[in-house]
Amino acid sequence: MPTRSTVILGTGSYAPERVLSNDEISQTLDTSDDWIRTRSGIRERRIAAPNEATSDMAAKAAQRALDDAGLKATEIDLLVVATMTPDLPMPAAACIIQRKLGLPSTAACFDLNAACTGFVYALDTACAMLSSGRYQKALVIGAEKLSTIVDWQDRTTCVLFGDGAGAVVVGVSPEPDRGLLGTRLGAFGDSVELLYISHGGSSSPSTPESIARREHCMRMKGKEVFKLAVRVMDEAARDILEQHHLHADQISLVIPHQANLRIIEAISEYLEIPMERFFVNVDRYGNTSAASIPLALDEARRSGRIKTGDITLLVAFGAGLTYGSALIRW
Ligand code: ACO
Repeated sequence: MPTRSTVILGTGSYAPERVLSNDEISQTLDTSDDWIRTRSGIRERRIAAPNEATSDMAAKAAQRALDDAGLKATEIDLLVVATMTPDLPMPAAACIIQRKLGLPSTAACFDLNAACTGFVYALDTACAMLSSGRYQKALVIGAEKLSTIVDWQDRTTCVLFGDGAGAVVVGVSPEPDRGLLGTRLGAFGDSVELLYISHGGSSSPSTPESIARREHCMRMKGKEVFKLAVRVMDEAARDILEQHHLHADQISLVIPHQANLRIIEAISEYLEIPMERFFVNVDRYGNTSAASIPLALDEARRSGRIKTGDITLLVAFGAGLTYGSALIRW
């Protein structure tokens, strides 16, 4: 159990200006707006500019979260960035974001990769570090430029993903019953090959041949991922509710990972929580991986869907296959 309660003090998000519609994708690929919408619920996604890196989007979302919290960058002593598309293979995107935001050199800064579950993992990590008493104020960011790792010739994947960033500022609270109530994290390493990039890492560095075969791009077995996603998100949500002796009725809003509207609808049915209590923006952004939950969280807060005293459930799954859930009392 945490020794100090941790609360979200501010939220922020950023989506690139460029909107890529289903119709536009259909002009160069054998797909259609109708297929994409009915299978995934996605209408459009945002695509970062060529000179706009993950760190640029992350820094903008983070600055908005700092402004919302009424804090200066110099007051942050911990930065955790969830991403699988850092600016560079090394160093961590967190250090580049630190420089862009002007965080002090005494701040701990690192990246964490749990794919689409990244934000929930990062939030748990930051809150545990704050609870320990060794850190006071954390920035937790989820940011992705997935447009650089999808294969734009593969209609089974490229239509599903988009770019963006979301951030929260976390601090400690004197009220024990507020803030992050708990998390439930896990992974199914046996299923790595359901969703992965086979080349470009230490086991298989990219070669001209592997690049010609487009093996530096994401590959996914969509149907298997879909089934596993529904099962693990349902279980992760049930487990955490049970751990905290809460009933689904007590959850004011569920913020699920925004991968596919059909996955969200299936979870709503299994958990018996109506869709009105799910926050959905996958139609406008597609799947932005680690950015998806903090982007949705920020939009939910700013549109008045979260009030003091409410309990929000976050639930996610991603490559790995990782999964995670979190409960937050506001
Ligand atoms: N446009 C038109 N047709 C298409 C497209 C497309 N974009 N993509 C696939 N098809 C075709 C297929 O080739 C197939 O044709 P066939 O029957 O002639 O072989 C047909 O449509 C049906 O394909 P399925 O894969 O069976 O379609 P399904 O209903 O399963 O939907 C989808 C596919 C949307 C990918 C779904 O399986 C899904 O959402 N899976 C989960 C994906 C996901 O959420 N991934 C994110 C994980 S999180 C992370 O960490 C990144």
